[in-house]
Amino acid sequence: MGKLVVLSVLVVVLAAFVGERLIAFRNITLAFRELTKKHLPNCQLIEGIDFGSEDVFILEEGLAFISTGLKYPGMPYNPDAIGKILLLDLHSGVHPVELNIKEDFDTSSFNPHGISVYTDERDGSIYLFVVNHPHGSSQVDIFKFVEEENALLHLKTIKHELLHHVNDIVAVGLESFYATNDHFLNTELLQNLEVLLQFTWCDVVYYSPEGVKSVMGGFSSANGINISPDKRYLYVSDIMNHSISVLEIQKDHTLSRVKEVAMGSLCDNIEVDAETGDLWVGCHPNAFKFFLNDPNDLPGSEVFRIQNIHSEEPLVTQVFSDDGSMLIGSSVAARYGGKLLIGTVYHKALYCDLS
Ligand SMILES: *[C@@H]1O[C@H](CO)[C@@H](O)[C@H](O)[C@H]1NC(C)=O
Ligand SMILES: *[C@@H]1O[C@H](CO)[C@@H](O)[C@H](O)[C@H]1NC(C)=O
Repeated sequence: MGKLVVLSVLVVVLAAFVGERLIAFRNITLAFRELTKKHLPNCQLIEGIDFGSEDVFILEEGLAFISTGLKYPGMPYNPDAIGKILLLDLHSGVHPVELNIKEDFDTSSFNPHGISVYTDERDGSIYLFVVNHPHGSSQVDIFKFVEEENALLHLKTIKHELLHHVNDIVAVGLESFYATNDHFLNTELLQNLEVLLQFTWCDVVYYSPEGVKSVMGGFSSANGINISPDKRYLYVSDIMNHSISVLEIQKDHTLSRVKEVAMGSLCDNIEVDAETGDLWVGCHPNAFKFFLNDPNDLPGSEVFRIQNIHSEEPLVTQVFSDDGSMLIGSSVAARYGGKLLIGTVYHKALYCDLS
């Protein structure tokens, strides 16, 4: 064969490969999905939240922690966003206060992402664990919540090479947690390739002062993580695989796979209903639109409830959806009484009646 023929064949093969991967990327991001509107009654916007409410945690007595102002490489964000933790008393409406951060802590580079709460059963002390990305890096900061002062007392910063692209955490002790990594490679370009080539190199990491280990790998992108009310199972969203994994916690803190639930959406944070054990999940129905964030073709929102996840037939119900006219990029949903709080990656937050 002449050189020209070989070259032509190579070009055709390469073009076919690129074309195939572009279709795969549209499949992964569900670019073909039409956005729908399924609204809940009496929705109110949470005051002062315009640049994200990526994760929330609601305490039993109705106080909600909300992380806002995330600036995550590779995702849209408003340059004016300021990283803060807000506290919203769900009994008194939709007016959150900013929690003051005390002690030695750099608030100017605060870039909060996933959050989790650990309550010390012995004295009722509440500890807030925050995934933080100062200057794009990953660390976990632990704070003590001082309710009388609307303050967070910074206790500790945890950095570790295994905690390299942390998205979310679930606290399981005073200083221990499980964390998800949503990427494996370092630069934005390589991370795009990671998604495009569908590598499954992401993992869940267990951290405690006694040791740190990767306890479950094989995720294309591990995102939201949470724990069952009986503390026996973890739930992890593999956002690029459109699935939620159920993992059983072993005595040595390693995990074993129980099953995956197909979601048909790109699911972000997972909240677990303490009363019922139901999962509430904020998802991106069309992540192609989410990444583009085109004002003329807005990304949407979607919330699911999963009931009976441990049974043979988990019941997945779409509770809320929107075409972006009301809420863009829902990343979390949590029930309190008969109401639902819905947060977003880089947009607003809603508080709605469930029926
Ligand atoms: C994209 O999705 C369609 C429909 O599910 C499927 O038939 C096709 O094989 C997928 N293509 C790629 C490249 O993943
Ligand atoms: C991806 O999702 C499918 C179900 O949709 C599941 O069978 C498969 O195990 C999932 N892969 C991973 C790595 O979770």
